[in-house]
Amino acid sequence: MLITSNLQPIGIFDSGLGGLSVVNAMTALLPGEDIVYFGDTGRVPYGTRSRQTIEQYTAQDIAFLQSKNVKLIIAACGTVSSVAFHVGEACGLPFIGVVKPTAQEAILATKNKKIGVIGTAATIASESYTKEIAVLDPSVTVYGQPCQLFVQMVEEGFIDADDPIALAVSKRYLQPLIDQEVDTLILGCTHFPLLTDVIRKVMGDGVTLIDSGRAAAKAAAKLLGDQNLLSDKSTGTQTYFVSDRTEAFSDVAGRFLGREIPTVTRVVLE
Ligand code: DGL
Repeated sequence: MLITSNLQPIGIFDSGLGGLSVVNAMTALLPGEDIVYFGDTGRVPYGTRSRQTIEQYTAQDIAFLQSKNVKLIIAACGTVSSVAFHVGEACGLPFIGVVKPTAQEAILATKNKKIGVIGTAATIASESYTKEIAVLDPSVTVYGQPCQLFVQMVEEGFIDADDPIALAVSKRYLQPLIDQEVDTLILGCTHFPLLTDVIRKVMGDGVTLIDSGRAAAKAAAKLLGDQNLLSDKSTGTQTYFVSDRTEAFSDVAGRFLGREIPTVTRVVLE
């Protein structure tokens, strides 16, 4: 489990498709990096589960990526980053979650000091964003709103802005944040950037959306640079693993990334 070469891949994991928002940002920022992605599609969602279960799944996801000889692990999952960050920190490799980088970006964006956070039930219950933002800028008020159904909508591919289901569910979830007049909204679950179009339609153009996937990717790129771990290749590869049906993953992933995903391999985690 040592870092012996800058050419080792970056490991990225999530409960399902959401971490692709990190892959997307990562390939744009650092096209020369090889990426190994694991989506735990057989056990999605994580956001409704107990702390113990999320910790156990996180340890297994990380062990799988370590078996692929990665040099850095990104928890591309707001739930894992909120509830089981300590599991990743203990893994012995550089480890990045989404909460801190996303909170930092949101604080820079807000003008009226009212930030909304949407995430899974577990993320909002953990108050991870509220606590992080309170440390960084106590004058900011944070309004949390769990939006658990968004996860299933993404996994089902209901991601178009004119999809009536996506629109109705978004209005129901987001109205309380519109009422609070937040000027910045953290997409605190990495599945949610796949719903950016419909969320923007409901929130209006005056609200800045903060993509937790992109914020984490930027933090990872900085860490690799600071630790002299950047690949010197010009083009990297992406390898995808999931824990259940590969076809469903390929379909939505292809639509989101705007390119075919050549091979997705199913693995069974012990
Ligand atoms: N993408 C995940 C997150 O960022 C997990 C969603 C879930 O599995 O409930 O929280």
